Amino acid sequence: MRIIIGSDHGGFDLKVAIKHHLEAAGHEVYDQGTYEAGVSVDYPDYALPVARAVVNGDYDFGILICGTGIGISIAANKVRGARVALCTDAYMARMSRAHNDANVLALGGRVVGQGLAFDIVDAFLGGDFEGGRHVRRVDKIMAIEG
Ligand code: RB5
Repeated sequence: MRIIIGSDHGGFDLKVAIKHHLEAAGHEVYDQGTYEAGVSVDYPDYALPVARAVVNGDYDFGILICGTGIGISIAANKVRGARVALCTDAYMARMSRAHNDANVLALGGRVVGQGLAFDIVDAFLGGDFEGGRHVRRVDKIMAIEG
């Protein structure tokens, strides 16, 4: 798969680890930054390009990480067509694909450890949208965007 990943300083270490994890599994990963550990940056500056790239079809999925995952998911969900799921376990990640057709995964670099984060990422990328009744519900979400 083609994955785009981005983080602020709060998610930097986990971003680097996930990038290596994905590349080792054979995925193509584009790193949108931030590129410097320990330098404070603003999470919307990474949320926006990652969400836009996924919605535009340049990548299959996006992964966004800040300290909690909250700010970066709120920001990215402002992009029309983005369905960003903040997940803290693998069940949430799998269901975000199955029921919500999420196209971007958000994680908290100060919330989940590396091993759990890898499980969450793998569950997200391994999940499939179930369609059926969930199409109607996702369409209703998208209709809110006008
Ligand atoms: C940065 O300190 C922190 O506020 C940010 O990474 C994120 O947790 C915001 O939601």
